[in-house]
Amino acid sequence: MTIANKATFKLHFEERGRGLPLLLIHGFPFSGRMWAGQLESLSKSARVLAPDLPGFGDSPARQGAASVDQYAEDCLSVLDALHIMDPVVIGGLSMGGYIALAAARLFPLRVSGLILASTRAGADTAESKTTRDKTIAQVKESGASVVAESMYPKLLSSDTYKDQPAVANELKAIMRTATSEGVIAALAAMRDRLDSTDLLPNLHMPVLIIHGKDDRVIPPAEAEGMAKAIPNNALHLIDKAGHLPNLEQPEEFNRSVTKFLGKLV
Ligand code: MLT
Repeated sequence: MTIANKATFKLHFEERGRGLPLLLIHGFPFSGRMWAGQLESLSKSARVLAPDLPGFGDSPARQGAASVDQYAEDCLSVLDALHIMDPVVIGGLSMGGYIALAAARLFPLRVSGLILASTRAGADTAESKTTRDKTIAQVKESGASVVAESMYPKLLSSDTYKDQPAVANELKAIMRTATSEGVIAALAAMRDRLDSTDLLPNLHMPVLIIHGKDDRVIPPAEAEGMAKAIPNNALHLIDKAGHLPNLEQPEEFNRSVTKFLGKLV
């Protein structure tokens, strides 16, 4: 389905199931397709909504700069388009987690539960900001594929590369759909995002933190740090999973989310 609430803004999203809405926000440089292994399974206990952020998957890029807060508003516009005004569960992986935290800060009354997967609360360090700028320059020169090529070797656990070639191929296929405009906007948005560390003790809703034990993009210590700071949370570290536990160990990931959703209704 696609919403087009302004002449220049279109957002594609997938929708499955009924009941408690669960908005799943993808990481970088992926798309809503990364949740394919969640849609059927989680739709047994929730109404799952998985948008493609602007410039990723089937959503066209937007003109001009983006911000993580803007992405949070984009995702909530899916709820507005479906007239969902009651609070929902928002889950995000990595960049999607930055966006989920922004949604909890900006619209706390619209969030009844949070799922923070493979993410961190802190802002970019000075060094990471410089790396983002260099990557933006490379994408301007050579296209979005430079990001996919440099990230690919770090994204999955060594077990997944070895034992699940179909998952590795699907990941490459998902990354190929990212546009240069979308990638550049997201890199700048992540570079400039706010630090959410101070928000953590004030999160009033239940939070599920999921992280791959072999994540080499965002170390599991970040998840453990968030678990110490968030009052009402459950932490689930997944074996044989790197940065994409939902793709690498979908059954365990889905069981964890289903259990969390069961406690919310
Ligand atoms: C992601 O997976 O969304 C990105 O690796 C996050 C980031 O670059 O900070």
